[in-house]
Amino acid sequence: MDYLEIEGGCKLSGNVTISGAKNSALAVIAATILSDKEVTLTNLPNVVDIRTLLKLLTMLGAKVEHNDTVAKIDCSTISSTRAVYEIVAQMRASILVLGPLLSRFKHCEVSLPGGCAIGQRPIDLHIKAVEALGAEVTLEQGYVVAKAEDGLKGNKIIFDKITVGGTENALMAAAMADGVTEIVNAAKEPEIVQLSEMLNMGGAKVEGIGTGRLKVHGTNGKPLDFSEPVEIIPDRIEAGTYLCVGAITNSEITLDKVNVEHIQTSIEKLEAMGCDFYIKNDSVTIKPVAELKGVNIVTTEYPGFPTDMQAQFMAVATLASEDSLIEERLFENRFMHVSELNRLGADIWLKGNVAAVRPVKELIGAEVMATDLRASSALVIAALAAKGTTKIRRIYHLDRGYDRLEEKLSNIGAKIVRKKS
Ligand code: UD1
Repeated sequence: MDYLEIEGGCKLSGNVTISGAKNSALAVIAATILSDKEVTLTNLPNVVDIRTLLKLLTMLGAKVEHNDTVAKIDCSTISSTRAVYEIVAQMRASILVLGPLLSRFKHCEVSLPGGCAIGQRPIDLHIKAVEALGAEVTLEQGYVVAKAEDGLKGNKIIFDKITVGGTENALMAAAMADGVTEIVNAAKEPEIVQLSEMLNMGGAKVEGIGTGRLKVHGTNGKPLDFSEPVEIIPDRIEAGTYLCVGAITNSEITLDKVNVEHIQTSIEKLEAMGCDFYIKNDSVTIKPVAELKGVNIVTTEYPGFPTDMQAQFMAVATLASEDSLIEERLFENRFMHVSELNRLGADIWLKGNVAAVRPVKELIGAEVMATDLRASSALVIAALAAKGTTKIRRIYHLDRGYDRLEEKLSNIGAKIVRKKS
């Protein structure tokens, strides 16, 4: 199995080009199911999760041509509406095919995603959303079976809890429904904005984009027509991760092709820790800082501090000069990186959903294990600052979501190699 070997303590410098956002790309790929014509997607990140969803579409009968950052997807040939366990178990986000399959084909079967390393992560809100639009949903032998023989009908969907994936499924289900759907307490993440704009381009009409109250005028069964290529927005989590790399290694790093607004909370938290930035158009430079201050973080929905940046900031906080407090409000079990960071010499204490990070003078390389996608990147960040060599195992988690990680880090001077054990 592959592992990463990182020699820490190097000062880094140079530019990193940020790839397309994995999470946005996943929703956009799912939305191509709503069309019976070829759709072109550009700026896709070259990561395993994208290939997994494209494989699922192929298994459903779609024609997919994929080459690095570009995919041409033709869903006119879909002949099956069953998303099998083999794929859904690999990637939870496969549940995103529920809304579009049901909307276009009036039935579908999607395997239940099963356990997940960062908590229980149920899909009850996805199911309630399509039920509100008239679908009949049953659970049969591990599959969510959804039917709407007369097609979905516009209605009000009120989410008890803000859910990114649930909002995406609701939007895609409503896009081809008959009538108007109102989505209350919708997520406002940039990924939702991109998906809404794509649906508008395809012929549905989404109003209230970027707010918690979305109104979708469905096409009453008419497939969408995405005549323009969809360019995936920059990955705000990848960008935030490289900012954390700059902060912990006291380096000057410039990120190119970012959307500065999308990474505002990460920039503000790093400013609170003492970091300086130079921002010009779509590039951001983080300046070296001799001493990092402590930080207090509470993860919340966008535009608040993203849960997907929590682990990376914890890694940076280990070497601050003051205590930090990090509260995780979205996922109940998203602290698996704590014990691994402590193996590198960090001093982190957990109580419930709050982590107290006490500063240490140095981190020291060790063998550690990646546990989920963002936890893995926290280990990379810590390893880049640690004295000596760190081996990170189970890096298939990183490959799910970080495009060309070793290449991007090597280009700015990091000593990082992928090896086989
Ligand atoms: C998406 C992101 C993930 C990010 C998360 C929160 C993708 C592919 N993944 O995940 O990287 O960490 O948003 O920003 O875009 N919940 C329920 N029932 C449901 C659905 C969700 O209780 O049916 C709960 C979850 O357990 C969690 C909270 O709602 O506590 C938010 O989850 P949600 O926003 O749905 O996350 P995902 O869409 O799975």
